[in-house]
Amino acid sequence: MLAFILSSVLFFLFFLRNNMERWLGWQPPGPLNLPLMGSCVSLLKTGKNVFREPHLAMSKLSQIYGNIMSVGLGSDTWVILSGFDEIREFSMKSEATSRPSMPALIELYAFNEQLGVIFADGRLWRDQRRFMSKALKEIQSSYKPFGEQIMDEFNLFLAFLDNKQHHVFNGRDFFDIATLNIIWRLAAGERFDYENKRSQEMITHIESFTMEESLTILVGVSYARYLPYFRGIFQGMQEHMGKFHQFLWKIVAKPTDEHEVTYKNLFQHQLGKGGDFFTQKQLVISMLDFFTGGSGTLSKTLSFCILFMIQDEEMQGKIREEAQRFEEVSFEHLKQMPFTEAFISEVQRWASILPISPPREVTSSVNVAGFPLKVGQKVQMSLFAMHRDPQHWKDPQNFRPDRFLDPNNGSFVPDEWLQPFGYGKRKCLGEQIARQTVFLFLANLVKHFSFKAVEELPSLDPIGGLTLAPQQFKFKIMPIL
Ligand code: HEM
Ligand SMILES: *[C@@H]1O[C@H](CO)[C@@H](O)[C@H](O)[C@H]1NC(C)=O
Repeated sequence: MLAFILSSVLFFLFFLRNNMERWLGWQPPGPLNLPLMGSCVSLLKTGKNVFREPHLAMSKLSQIYGNIMSVGLGSDTWVILSGFDEIREFSMKSEATSRPSMPALIELYAFNEQLGVIFADGRLWRDQRRFMSKALKEIQSSYKPFGEQIMDEFNLFLAFLDNKQHHVFNGRDFFDIATLNIIWRLAAGERFDYENKRSQEMITHIESFTMEESLTILVGVSYARYLPYFRGIFQGMQEHMGKFHQFLWKIVAKPTDEHEVTYKNLFQHQLGKGGDFFTQKQLVISMLDFFTGGSGTLSKTLSFCILFMIQDEEMQGKIREEAQRFEEVSFEHLKQMPFTEAFISEVQRWASILPISPPREVTSSVNVAGFPLKVGQKVQMSLFAMHRDPQHWKDPQNFRPDRFLDPNNGSFVPDEWLQPFGYGKRKCLGEQIARQTVFLFLANLVKHFSFKAVEELPSLDPIGGLTLAPQQFKFKIMPIL
């Protein structure tokens, strides 16, 4: 009896602690937050599968509680941002650039340390982000502009497709090798031949991490990796990541032409000179960042482009019409191709390839949208919810490129609520490469081929884990004469 009373009192105190500040207006509104269970009940009640599609459950809740809300995940209370104003205000603050410690993720990804850039923190992150951004500029200026590097790969891809008419392709992995090659060239100066079966191994390793539906839960609720259902998944991912690490160690150790300008070589020049954060381990994880951050995201954005083009041939025709005005489309032509730019923007809004930015932790107290966030407050930015906010987009569930076009003269009109690369001080470092790759591949492909479905198309809704992708679909290509 006494135990029952004691535990009831404890439960009640925890309950008060979790919810009192909110009632007083010191904490953003949100669903009921119970001890240990957090807002589990409300998340389940959204009718979405929280484990498989957390971005949908979160998006549903922010429609109820607003663009800044607090939600209990496991034993932590998170602040979730999903409006452009809140995301801009928050992500421009230098107190908001920190990543919380994510034990399950770091164990999988980076030898139990916060290495690399994507999941790094503190001085190492600042130093290494600066270095990576400088290195990317240097690769452009002393090797080749990104546009030319991308077209080199495009032309090899085109040669590979040359005798593949009427061949049935898988929509989801059509671009995997091409985009892997673009990233690998930057990272270490290598690429796979299109017929090389070993490329599949590497892609499987990348996807075992980025496409794992449970990863979001494992990141948010670290102890989940010891629970029955998640344990098997976690071990499977560990196995893949172990092999991926081995592969990267080999690439790092392989002697290369010193004069080749790649991330690996630029980094290794610094290794010789010392500097706190230049270690072999840091190089391996930075290269891993390139692959997990860059290769699949590009491939999936392009797959979505194909899916929407075979779903609506009129759109496909409009893109082709714009592209055919040029012998070979280069990035400078983007401004003369407003429909294509609007189409890609709508694909990025729809797909939200990275639906929820990697988590943040506040390093000293800050105000966001009038709410004080204390030191250590964990924050997530839900890009998916921002891209699907019905108050801003009016009809977010419709795929409509013309929302980005001026109705009077058809010119492209950007919208600040579209931020597929995140915003602020930790924005994606690959944005330039990504924008150019997607545009150049799409515009130049439609000049050479038309795309047709070969069977009924799946739902257009994205699925996935850390990153989203279209559902499986099949198509064929036919040469344009
Ligand atoms: C369509 C393709 C891509 C999308 C949609 C995308 C999206 C994002 C987003 C949303 C973030 C998180 C920003 C934040 O925390 O606020 C991010 C971070 C990052 N991305 Fe990308 N990305 C893409 C391609 C690339 C490519 C091609 C590369 C590398 C060449 C890359 C490298 C990175 C890195 C290094 C970070 C971490 C930045 C940091 O934490 O300081 N991404 N990306
Ligand atoms: C199209 O119209 C808008 C205003 O409605 C104007 O700002 C823009 O410059 C025009 N663009 C072109 C290409 O005429």
